[in-house]
Amino acid sequence: QETDQPYRTGYHFQPPKNWMNDPNGPMYYKGVYHLFYQYNPYGAVWGNIVWAHSVSYDLVNWVHIDHAIYPTQPSDINGCWSGSTTILPGEKPAILYTGIDTKNHQVQNLAVPKNLSDPLLREWIKSPYNPLMTPIGGIDPDLYRDPTTAWQGPDKIWRVIVGSQIDGHGRAILYRSKDFVNWTRIDSPLHSSGKTEMWECPDFFPVSTRSSNGVDTSSQDKYTKHVLKASFNHHDYYILGGYKPVNDSFSVETNFMDSGMDLRYDYGKFYASKTFFDRAMNRRILWGWINESDSESDDIKKGWSGLQSIPRTILLSKTGKQLVQWPIKEIEKLRFKNLSFHDKKLKSGSVLEVPGITASQADVEVSFELPNLEDAEILDPSWTDPQLLCSQKKASVRGKLGPFGLLAFATKNLTEQTAIYFRIFRSNHNYIVLMCSDQSRSSVREELDKTTYGAFIDMDPRHENISLRSLIDHSIVESFGGEGRACITARVYPKLAIHEQAYLFAFNNGTSNVKISRLNAWSMKNAQIVSTKNRRKPQ
Ligand code: FRU
Repeated sequence: QETDQPYRTGYHFQPPKNWMNDPNGPMYYKGVYHLFYQYNPYGAVWGNIVWAHSVSYDLVNWVHIDHAIYPTQPSDINGCWSGSTTILPGEKPAILYTGIDTKNHQVQNLAVPKNLSDPLLREWIKSPYNPLMTPIGGIDPDLYRDPTTAWQGPDKIWRVIVGSQIDGHGRAILYRSKDFVNWTRIDSPLHSSGKTEMWECPDFFPVSTRSSNGVDTSSQDKYTKHVLKASFNHHDYYILGGYKPVNDSFSVETNFMDSGMDLRYDYGKFYASKTFFDRAMNRRILWGWINESDSESDDIKKGWSGLQSIPRTILLSKTGKQLVQWPIKEIEKLRFKNLSFHDKKLKSGSVLEVPGITASQADVEVSFELPNLEDAEILDPSWTDPQLLCSQKKASVRGKLGPFGLLAFATKNLTEQTAIYFRIFRSNHNYIVLMCSDQSRSSVREELDKTTYGAFIDMDPRHENISLRSLIDHSIVESFGGEGRACITARVYPKLAIHEQAYLFAFNNGTSNVKISRLNAWSMKNAQIVSTKNRRKPQ
């Protein structure tokens, strides 16, 4: 880490410089993981978008190779926007992506590898038939983009959805094709919603109701449910339902922006995400774009903007009512210097240092046991918005059971701190677990977005301890509460708590004592993320 770049990460995916947004077309192909992403080759702000390309054998260490797709044709001359890969029979990957054409209209294009025997798939050829899908029949040419991975029904016909907005409603426009080149639009969308506007980067995939393995995108049987994700309002929302390929019906169990049911991948920063099925490890993996919370002029000064999340495995929860996420296990090979203890009382009002690790680049797992649940405060029935509740009851606001949790990126005297914590409430005979990430004191710098985030976790503290895992990396903290039932990602830019001046603490600002049943913290090594052109110095 160079001292003038305190916010560059050690083990999150980043290009060497410039702007990055959505992850595109992630896939596993012949032993290699591929990640493409929206990238500006000329600067740290959005524009001139191409598909940059990086490859990896383990999803941790990466090599940046040449751009895969960049403007060359009338159908993409003004930009190569988001899209997905599909692996066609015979192990043939194909990319569907949005091009911005000569009229500045959004159209959908196809590209295929030039040489299938190159496992790095360095060169891509665009279809001479591009564009394959165009904004006709009432589609707004500015609101029509981001094709998903296609899936094949038992009838061997391919289906794909494209995000759009029609008559003010977010909509997943459905197409079918026999040959992946000629696509027919189906009149009724796969799904639409009047409570949302434009759907960016939709994703549609099956999850298993009985196993913890991931499911290939074209699979569907009585043991699968389908997930539809759409990106809007700066967040990635999802709904669950049953999909039938016979008539392409998707009968939903919940709906977007339904009262109270606000299912999101992440309740902090996380957008335009995409999953893929990793056939090598039988799991489905989620990538998401995490943008900056500083200003555009800060980004120009830093020379870069945007991170990708740590890839997460994504599964249906045991209740079947939501998804759970967990950092891929490969990331654990970066762990070194472990600190571990168990059964430690965390008294009311106390702060406990977690010493001996590099607190600016760490992985922490902690779980809390609550001896006196009856102390929980009563939840006011009007407190239905967890983010609002967290921003009213910040880490400095004393409660009964909570706030307790971690202080990341903290100075020794706690002037700077990013608090990830829990509060427990009671409502009738149930307990409610609130998880918060409070950035309000994360930096003495002022001109930053320090929004506080929050989520309720679907768990019963009578039957399980409350667990938290946080991946801390210079300017990001990705937190997984309740074994991945609620995730909150935050970006922070401490001015003082950088490098060796960063500390990690556990804290309890409630009036009740709690117990740390176990805590494990590790320093994290740098991932090797190198360019084929200029290699980063090894640590
Ligand atoms: C989402 C998005 C996509 C679009 C791409 C352009 O962040 O707006 O809808 O394809 O970014 O870079």
